Amino acid sequence: MIDRATVDKIMDAVRIEEVIGDFVSLRKRGANYLGLCPFHQDKNPSMSVSSTKGIFKCFACGKAGNAVTFLMEHEHLTYVEALRYLAKKYHIEIVEKEETAEEIAHRMRYESLLVVTDYAQKFYSDILWNTEIGKAIGLSYFHERKFSDETIRQFGLGYAASRPLTLCAKALKDGYKKEYLVDAGLCLEREGTGELYDRFFDRVIFPIHSISGRVIAFGGRTLKTDKSVAKYVNSPQSEIYDKSRSLYGIFQAKNSIAREDKCILVEGYADVISMHQAGVTNVVASSGTSLTVEQIRLIKRFTDKVTIIYDGDAAGIKAALRGIDLVLEEGLSVKVVQLPPEDDPDTFAKSHSLIEIREYIEENEKDFISFKSDLLLEESERDPVRRAQVIRDIVQSVAMVPDPILRNIYVELVAEKFDQKTDSVLATIASVRRQKKALERSRRRFEDQTQSWQGGAQQPPEPEELNPADLPEEGEDAGAVSVQPSGYVVRDKYLAVPERELTYYLVKFGEYPMHFEEDMYYGSESHGEITVSQYIRDALADDEIVFVNDLYRTIFDRYYSFAATLPQEDYEPRQQRMIRYFTTGEDQAVNKAVFDLILEEHPLTVKSYEESIPPEEQALGRTVPKSVLLYKLRITEEQCAATAKEITQAQKGGQQDTLRELVGRLQLLNTVKNRLSKELNRL
Ligand code: CTP
Ligand code: MN
Repeated sequence: MIDRATVDKIMDAVRIEEVIGDFVSLRKRGANYLGLCPFHQDKNPSMSVSSTKGIFKCFACGKAGNAVTFLMEHEHLTYVEALRYLAKKYHIEIVEKEETAEEIAHRMRYESLLVVTDYAQKFYSDILWNTEIGKAIGLSYFHERKFSDETIRQFGLGYAASRPLTLCAKALKDGYKKEYLVDAGLCLEREGTGELYDRFFDRVIFPIHSISGRVIAFGGRTLKTDKSVAKYVNSPQSEIYDKSRSLYGIFQAKNSIAREDKCILVEGYADVISMHQAGVTNVVASSGTSLTVEQIRLIKRFTDKVTIIYDGDAAGIKAALRGIDLVLEEGLSVKVVQLPPEDDPDTFAKSHSLIEIREYIEENEKDFISFKSDLLLEESERDPVRRAQVIRDIVQSVAMVPDPILRNIYVELVAEKFDQKTDSVLATIASVRRQKKALERSRRRFEDQTQSWQGGAQQPPEPEELNPADLPEEGEDAGAVSVQPSGYVVRDKYLAVPERELTYYLVKFGEYPMHFEEDMYYGSESHGEITVSQYIRDALADDEIVFVNDLYRTIFDRYYSFAATLPQEDYEPRQQRMIRYFTTGEDQAVNKAVFDLILEEHPLTVKSYEESIPPEEQALGRTVPKSVLLYKLRITEEQCAATAKEITQAQKGGQQDTLRELVGRLQLLNTVKNRLSKELNRL
C-alpha cells in the first residue's frame, strides 16, 4: 500500500516526457513532444506528450494516459509496480500506508506461503539434478521427452521422490512451519497422529508460476502407465493459488504475447514447454480444465487475439469449441488451429521445425465460424434438421460477440456460407441477444432485490420497455459503455449517456464557478456563487435522483467525499488535485473512465444542442443545467415508456382500477416531460 501523500510526491516529481522518453524517442514540437506510438504499428509519429498536463495521447489509435498508465500498458506493470518504478526513477522514498494488525498478519501469511512454495520448487529441482534417483528417473524422463537442460531449468521442473527424500522431512528440519506447508497444499496431515506426509511423491514436477514469476502451485505427473494411478496430482486451491485465475506458462510467455499481439492457447504442461523449446514462446495452457472468464481477462492484459491449438482428436476439438464462446463474449478475436489427428501440440512441436510450425499455424488458422461450420456441417450434410441446428448453434456464437462491427462481419459470413438472408440472420441474432440480456437482467434484479430505487416509488425502468426508436443505436456512444472494464455494471444504457455527461462536467469543471447569464438559472432559488459540482448535486437532489450506473455513481460519490478534503485555494488548482486523485487511484476502471472524460471536449448530447460552441469554461452556466435537464428528461421518458407498457398489460388483463391509476400517472409524467422540454428550449 502506498499512501496518498507519497503518490502525490511521486506525481509531482514525474516528468512524463522523461518517463516515456526511456522507451520511445521523442522530439520537441511546440509545447509538446511527439513520437512514434508504441501501442500500434505507427509509421508517422502520432503520439503527443504534454509535459505541462502530464499526459500522452496517440491521435491515431486513441491510447492516452499519464506516466503511470503508460508504464502499466507498456511494461505490463500493475498500478503499484508502476508507482514503485517511478519512485525509484525519481529517488522518492515510498512511505507504506500504515497497515492494521490484521493486514500485516494477512500479508505475512501470504508471503510465508509463497516462501514455502519457492522452497519446495528448489527442493524438487535439487532432487532432479543432484540425486541418483532424480537423475535416473526424473531427468531421464524429461530427456526422453526431448526437453533440453535449458528448458528444464527455464520452467523450473523437478522431481518428487519418496522416503527418505521427502519435502516434509527436509522442510521441517529447515525450520519451515507445519501450518504453511499444509496450507500451501504441499503436505497433508495424517489423521490421528498429525504426522506430515507429502502430496507429491514419485512424480515429475511442473511448477506453476504467477504472472510475476512466483511459484504458486505444482502439477505432478506420474511416470507409471498403470491406469489406476492418477496421471496428474495438482496443488489444491489455496490463498496463493486460484486455479481459475492462473494460466500455465503466463510468466514465461507474457512478453512475447504482447510483442506478437497474439496468444496461443494449448491444453497441457508438455504442450507449452515443447512449443517454447521449438521457439514459439507466446503459448499458455489452461491445464486441462475449460477456460474461465478470469483466465481470458488475464490474456486480455497483453493481447486481444487468441489462437486455440488443441489436439486433433475428438476430445480436443470439443474442448476447443467449449472455449470459443467464452473468449468471444469477452470481446477477443478467436482462431482455431486443428492439428493432424495423431498429434498434439507437444508431439507436433517436436517433430517439426520452427518454420514448419509457424507455417502450419498460418495456413490452418481458421476463423471460428469457418472452423465451427466446417466441422458441424460435415456431420450434418444430408440431414436438414441437424443442419438447422448447426446454423442456430453458430448464430448463437456470433451473438456473443460484443463489438457490433465485428458481429456484422460475422453475420455476412454466416449468411454467405449457409445461403441465408442477411436480414434473417440479423433477426435471429437480435433475438438471442435479447434473451441473453433478459437473463442477465433477471439475474441482476435478483442480486439487487435489497437495493431500492431512489428516484421515486417505482422500480427502475427497464430498457426493454422503451420504444426502441428512443434508444441509442448499439455501438453509438460506445464511450458511454466501454468505460466499464472491471466489475462496473451498465445497468441502464440509455441513462448512461447523460450520466457520463454529468460526470464529465464534474471531473473536468466541478470546482469551477458557474457563470450564469441573466435569467438563466434553472433550479433552486439561490443566485450566489455556486460551483458546477454544487449545482449538479443540488439539481439532482431536488428530485432525489441517484445515478443508476455503477461506475458513474462511484465517481459521483467519491467526488464529493474527496472535495471535502481539498484545501481552500483557487478553483483551478483544486480541480487539478481532483483530476489527479481520480487518475492515480487504485481503481483502474475509474482512472480510465476519468481519463477518457477529461481528454474529451464538449460531450455529445449537449453538443448537438448547441449550434455554435462558445469557450467551454464560459458556457458552463448554460451547458451544465442543460445536461441536468437532458438527464431528467431521459429518466422521465423511460418512466413514460414503462408506464405505457404497464397500461397495455392492464388493458389485456382488464384491471380497471390499475388502469385508471396508470393513466393518471402517465398524464403526470407527460406534464413533467413537457415542462422539462420547455425549460430546455428556453435555455
Ligand atoms: N490434467 C490434470 N489431471 C489429469 C489429467 C490432465 O490436471 N488427471 C491436466 C494437466 O494440466 C495436463 C492437461 O490436463 O497437462 C492435459 O492433459 P493430458 O493431455 O492428458 O496431459 P499432458 O500434459 O499432455 O501429458 P502427456 O503429454 O505427458 O501425456
Ligand atoms: Mn500431451
